Amino acid sequence: MASPQPLKVGLVGGGKGAFIAQPHQRSIHFDGTRRVAAAALMPDPAEAIEEAANWPYPIRGYASYAEMIDDQATLPKGERLDYIVIVTPNHVHFDPALRAIKAGIPVFCEKPLCLDIKEANQLVKAVRSSGVPFAVAHTYLGHWTTRLARYIVQKGLLGDVRWVDSRYIQGWLASKLEATGQQQASWRTNPKLAGGSGCGGDIGTHALMQLRYITGLEVTDVSAHLETFVEGRALDDHFTVYCKLEGGAKALVRASQVCIGLKNDLGITVAGTKGTLTWSQEDPEKLVVHLADQPDRVYWRGAIAAGDGFLPKDKKLDALLAEPTIPAGHPEGFHDAFARLHRFFEQDVRKYNRRGKVACDGVNYANVEDGWTGMAFLATCLKSSSKKGAWTAMPKMV
Ligand SMILES: NC(=O)c1ccc[n+]([C@@H]2O[C@H](COP(=O)([O-])OP(=O)(O)OC[C@H]3O[C@@H](n4cnc5c(N)ncnc54)[C@H](O)[C@@H]3O)[C@@H](O)[C@H]2O)c1
Repeated sequence: MASPQPLKVGLVGGGKGAFIAQPHQRSIHFDGTRRVAAAALMPDPAEAIEEAANWPYPIRGYASYAEMIDDQATLPKGERLDYIVIVTPNHVHFDPALRAIKAGIPVFCEKPLCLDIKEANQLVKAVRSSGVPFAVAHTYLGHWTTRLARYIVQKGLLGDVRWVDSRYIQGWLASKLEATGQQQASWRTNPKLAGGSGCGGDIGTHALMQLRYITGLEVTDVSAHLETFVEGRALDDHFTVYCKLEGGAKALVRASQVCIGLKNDLGITVAGTKGTLTWSQEDPEKLVVHLADQPDRVYWRGAIAAGDGFLPKDKKLDALLAEPTIPAGHPEGFHDAFARLHRFFEQDVRKYNRRGKVACDGVNYANVEDGWTGMAFLATCLKSSSKKGAWTAMPKMV
């Protein structure tokens, strides 16, 4: 059998000093089975074309994402883009995503899903009725150790979950960086471009997603405090949310961008009735399990054995262990996590290409419902915070 053709990917955003487009394009190319083939890289049409002409390898440049999607939709399957990746600021997620879904082109969209819950509702409806694959780029789900943590917690190896502390702490917005015109700070602190929450939308949504993915538990109620430490800033730069989880557990979802010196301190502690698990993305190759009256167990990616007295022998664990990774001790990181998400998304896109409709189940990457939940969480936190942290219930999905 001949090797399959690489999937063709289109970028929406990514020109001139863009940040997250680069990790995406690198991890798209990780396996040789996907390649960036086209892009609409900037909001200005002439700049978009010029940036595409200067891209480090040949791609087809478009003047706008609308032109790219409309043009690609006219091509026969097999020739057109297999999926697009949306790496623009938050206010330019909804429109390209909806256009692509309507054109039958799968979407890998950056987080947060969009600007507000109204847009999120429309995207959920469009994805469900079309069966077009849709991923949300919650990067840290792609760490092998995050997947092991999910297995451990959902297998009940820590007992019943009592408490979760999920955090994402940074320091890069501890001063008014946006006043210097710095690109990433400028749009992230502008409510029209970022949405109703700054820090919460930008990184609090990652902390929420880690909590939900690892525990499988949904937040039912929040008591939130959205605070702004830097004078004159329009959005929160510090986000603290006490949560009730289904089944009676409690959690803290917290994020900050004003803790000087801290970089990307995303991590999670899950405490159950039998033990506690801790994981940190700045040291992502290991996961620590603490059991009562026993020495701590440190599990390294790729170097675990089922049936060790804690991890049982079962098929789900076998599947995790069978996943191809480089041998333990050769460190995996941020790009590997991104690549794992694209790799799983590729499987769904190929399925879609073969047989039409695919429902993304959220097992291997965040789906549109996860994106919706992030937006619902932000809306509920904004409501609670405006009432001085009053307990506020999460809405039900449409
Ligand atoms: N998953 C993660 O870990 C992660 C990390 C960083 C950023 N993000 C998300 O990625 C998105 C982009 O963030 P960033 O920091 O890379 O921003 P950025 O400012 O570095 O890049 C945005 C890019 O979008 C382009 N752009 C803006 N409007 C456009 C339009 N109408 N058409 C085409 N291109 C347009 C800009 O020219 C720029 O190239 C945000 O939604 C952010 O929340 C996710």
